[in-house]
Amino acid sequence: QELKLNLEQIEKGGYPHFMLKEIYEQPQAIRDTFRGRMREHKGIIKMAGVDDHIDKFLNAKRLVILACGTSWHAGLVAEYIIEELVRVPVEVEYASEFRYRNPVIEKDDVVIAISQSGETADTMAAMKLAKEHGAFVFGVCNVVGSSISREAHAGAYTHAGPEIGVASTKAFTTQITVLTLLGLKIAKAKGKISTSDFHMHLEELRLIPEKVEEALKNNEHVRKIAEVYKDASNCLYLGRGFNFPVALEGALKLKEISYIHAEGYPAAEMKHGPIALIDEQMPVVVIATRRGHYDKIVSNIQEIKSRKGKIIAIVTKGDVTVKELADHVIEVPEVMDSMSPLLTTIPLQLLSYHIAVMLGKNVDQPRNLAKSVTVE
Ligand code: G6P
Repeated sequence: QELKLNLEQIEKGGYPHFMLKEIYEQPQAIRDTFRGRMREHKGIIKMAGVDDHIDKFLNAKRLVILACGTSWHAGLVAEYIIEELVRVPVEVEYASEFRYRNPVIEKDDVVIAISQSGETADTMAAMKLAKEHGAFVFGVCNVVGSSISREAHAGAYTHAGPEIGVASTKAFTTQITVLTLLGLKIAKAKGKISTSDFHMHLEELRLIPEKVEEALKNNEHVRKIAEVYKDASNCLYLGRGFNFPVALEGALKLKEISYIHAEGYPAAEMKHGPIALIDEQMPVVVIATRRGHYDKIVSNIQEIKSRKGKIIAIVTKGDVTVKELADHVIEVPEVMDSMSPLLTTIPLQLLSYHIAVMLGKNVDQPRNLAKSVTVE
């Protein structure tokens, strides 16, 4: 027993929980995911699974992304990124819905199945269905040799390393990294992006690990904010554009490990329902980085404030406007809008982690949840 405990301590590498270790591994995990693929000097992105089937990607009239849970959120971020870069329609589907509704699948559809474990039963069944209808299926998995990676026609691995915490963290950011590379690569092959723009994106991506490190420096500040809100019974997360899926993911992280009810919403949808919930008891986490529809987000924040909601805002470093309105701000470094999810996610992971620890919850193995869901 003692030996087992010691082994676990070693595996956690000095961190009290796997989740925290994995949150801190993100700079390296992201670097490992793009290293070897970005050949900046040659102006190319190397991804064998794409290169070998480039015609499929060039001819695709649409992309369909299939996933569950956090991987589905990464798919939503990818929808925004790929549509922006490649200008083809992207649909993101819950694998469980897709598989049971006789979906429309065309021969020249490219289907992307995203799965950390590569074993999720619904994602597996959905991709098999797409294959049967003649679609080309591309897998984005973390676990090498997993069922989904073997079933796909081609794919790209995330190089996050083993993820033990049930609440996914580094798998999410590395999935976004791979899908960003994929979007850039197809955009380049289709002539949808200028050489200078392509280089600018690669340069921006190369700097992400350092910026994630900077975002992690807020840990203690986030812990103090967690102290204030740990007894909340509800929490609302809002974001727009590329950061709308991050709001969903932030809410999922909180409910998964702290069992506090949380909901993510596109900020503009607040007026169609969630605004009714806002009172002085309601913490609202708002992703309000400078580039993404900033003015609109500021007016959303004013609406929350006038109803006495408590505002925790994720802002771009040096922000002044939101700082005046919000109860708390957490800064992240300046970055191109499409890559901001890689940074804005970090404080949300830390916030849910600290709240769950303070509430004495089992952070790495929350009740009723499993790391890989192989049942339907
Ligand atoms: C489970 C895990 C989640 C994960 C989801 C999809 O619910 O608890 O963290 O996002 O499955 O898993 P996958 O391995 O397919 O990404």
